[in-house]
Amino acid sequence: MFRDTSMDYYTKEEVAELWNRNMSFTDEELLDMDETEFRARVRERSHHTLEIQVYYAAYRNKVLKKEQADYTKRLLRIWKERVLSEELPEYKYASFLIEAADALSRGEKVDLMPYKPTPVTKEMESHFFTILKERRSVREFTDEDVPDEVLEKILDAGLWAAHGCNVQSIRYVIVREKNEPGLFKGSDVPGGPIHLVICQDMRCYRANCFTPVRNQLLDAGAAGQNIVLAAHAAGLEGVWLTFPNQEFCDRLREKFNLPEYIRLVTYVDVGYGDQTPHPPLRGDVKDAILGRF
Ligand SMILES: Cc1cc2nc3c(=O)[nH]c(=O)nc-3n(C[C@H](O)[C@H](O)[C@H](O)COP(=O)(O)O)c2cc1C
Repeated sequence: MFRDTSMDYYTKEEVAELWNRNMSFTDEELLDMDETEFRARVRERSHHTLEIQVYYAAYRNKVLKKEQADYTKRLLRIWKERVLSEELPEYKYASFLIEAADALSRGEKVDLMPYKPTPVTKEMESHFFTILKERRSVREFTDEDVPDEVLEKILDAGLWAAHGCNVQSIRYVIVREKNEPGLFKGSDVPGGPIHLVICQDMRCYRANCFTPVRNQLLDAGAAGQNIVLAAHAAGLEGVWLTFPNQEFCDRLREKFNLPEYIRLVTYVDVGYGDQTPHPPLRGDVKDAILGRF
């Protein structure tokens, strides 16, 4: 029988214990905490205690309780004591959410119209689906160098993927084959000119340690899918690949001196494509729908 081992949920009691622990840090502990974990906690707490509540209340004209933002306010007070930059994204976003929560607790309205996305025209929709459907796994590349800016644009797309509880664990290592020939030996595409290794900083998950492993890996998968799509949109081609064995991962870990809290999840090879494969045809979507109720 199929047994899904990625569903390693914590029991209710374990979640309650971890939750209490999450909410009971002393100021000293928060001040001493590793910076990556602390910043992930700011993202996670502002997501779970403000983001969802603020948008709900703003939409439904509800009044929030005046203590709603207290925990995040405390984290931002510690942020200042730690002398972290107020230009960092989680500080700015948490500050926005605090201001909105305070306004909603006073019964004021919060105007979210400035954040309305650009309306998607029929033409934009058509371009989007062209990119989506014409992305191929391409395994042959020209010798043309890819500028760093193009790689950064693609990797930035990975950071804009959805991410469980907004803990933002995604990290990268960029390897140009010509600089490290043979490092990726054993790969399915040994000549891939650029290897984009998708990693996760596991310290971020301490902020939400009851996340099932499946969600952690899906965070990397969501980034990977954005990366292959963005590569195609930016004029590159690529292929998503699989670490063939532990020795391969150990070799990369050692080469880049990656600490144990960095998890290597997967990698994508990219470059200027030199191959135009026939699309591996997909079945009819109706056959993929198991039920409609
Ligand atoms: C998680 C994942 C792992 C993959 N690993 C490999 C791999 O090790 N070697 C390879 O040649 N392609 C690999 N691929 C690419 C698939 O073979 C490819 O996506 C699939 O055949 C569909 O083709 P398309 O991407 O052109 O639509 C992988 C894709 C995914 C999503």
